[in-house]
Amino acid sequence: MEKLVIEGGRPLRGTVRVNGAKNAVLPLLAATLLSEGRCVLRNVPDLFDVRTLLDILREVGLTADWRGPGTVVTRVERHDCSVARYELVSKMRASIYVLGPLLARRGFARVSLPGGCAFGLRPVDLHLKGLRALGAEIGLDHGDIVARAPGGRLRGARVFLGGPMGSSVGATANTLMAACLADGKSVIEGAACEPEIDELAHFLNRMGATIEGIGTPRLVITGVPALGGAAAHVVPDRIEAGTFAIAAGLLPGSDVRIEDLRVDHLSAVFDKLAEAGVEVTVEDDSAVRVRRTGELRPVHVATLPYPAYPTDCQAQLVSMLSLARGISVVTEKIYPDRFHHLAELNRMGADVQKEGPSAIIRGVDRLSGCDVEASDLRAAAALVIAGMAAEGKTTVHKLHHLDRGYERFEERLQALGASIERQGKQAAAARTAA
Ligand code: UD1
Repeated sequence: MEKLVIEGGRPLRGTVRVNGAKNAVLPLLAATLLSEGRCVLRNVPDLFDVRTLLDILREVGLTADWRGPGTVVTRVERHDCSVARYELVSKMRASIYVLGPLLARRGFARVSLPGGCAFGLRPVDLHLKGLRALGAEIGLDHGDIVARAPGGRLRGARVFLGGPMGSSVGATANTLMAACLADGKSVIEGAACEPEIDELAHFLNRMGATIEGIGTPRLVITGVPALGGAAAHVVPDRIEAGTFAIAAGLLPGSDVRIEDLRVDHLSAVFDKLAEAGVEVTVEDDSAVRVRRTGELRPVHVATLPYPAYPTDCQAQLVSMLSLARGISVVTEKIYPDRFHHLAELNRMGADVQKEGPSAIIRGVDRLSGCDVEASDLRAAAALVIAGMAAEGKTTVHKLHHLDRGYERFEERLQALGASIERQGKQAAAARTAA
């Protein structure tokens, strides 16, 4: 099995560029199912999750190919299979993004129900609510969601998609994509306002959809009979940018320029870093410099829907705050059980307790390297950056979680001065193949 071996204690210095966003490219790829033309996506990160979705798209009848680094071209060739299998869906929850487009375009879809995961139950009731509002008949059969549009076409409707934890990115994306081909006008109230939804809506409009209210919680969609081809440049990954910024904040003496990001997408993260004593200098709309000169101060933060602090940067922040001078409280209001990294951090000498949906973090003087196991994507990143701050050697296991969402993470950290090396079978195999 692959693992990352890290020698801690080195500051990060230099420049790092941010890749295209995983959470933006997945709905964009799913949306290409709706198109009758050729779609071209640029700035696509080469991630395990992207490859999984490309496999699903191919199974349901698309050609979906890489054309050089960062560019994927898709075209729907066949309509005879509208089934997303458990074997693929179980690798990645975002596979559910194909449900709305398949149903809207073909009048039928069978998509394996995604299971829970390391951070809780993760229901899909709001996805189904949105599609049912558009007239879909939906049932469960042997673990699959089976959805039909009576008469082959969905019909426009008004639906409120707010849930117990606020709006849902996934449910908004699925309902939005489906409504584009529905007969008549749809209104999504309580829509998610994450940048990834804006990107999706703009892409759909370029394909010929009519979506108004982009960037607001009220999306108005006038259905059209067909959509054509379009191109998109995937927006920079705000979570990857946040991860590099927090890593620089965690390591004393660090001075990192982060380029190709969207500063406006990271206000909450930069605000918390500044509050904790990290120097964040905005150079322009797409570049910041992050420096760690003094001591870290404790902060209180809650994860909430955008533009508040993102759940996907929670674990990394807990790693950083474990070395702050005082007690921090990090409350998870999106996924209250998303705290599997705490036990691993405590093995490294952190002092963190979970109380309900909150992590109570008592800052310690140092972390000490040891073997730790990643439980999910962002927990993996959090353990890597904790390892870079710890004394001695840290080995992070279960790297497949990290590879779902960060491309060449260790190489980019190495370039900033970290001592970090991938070891294990697949690393050797990859070197041989190259
Ligand atoms: C969420 C994050 C997203 C992040 C992703 C993976 C938010 C608002 N969304 O997206 O930024 O990239 O996790 O870490 O921060 N919910 C329901 N029923 C549903 C769908 C969702 O109750 O049908 C709940 C979820 O359990 C969660 C909240 O609504 O508490 C937000 O869900 P949603 O945005 O859909 O989650 P993801 O798409 O996974």
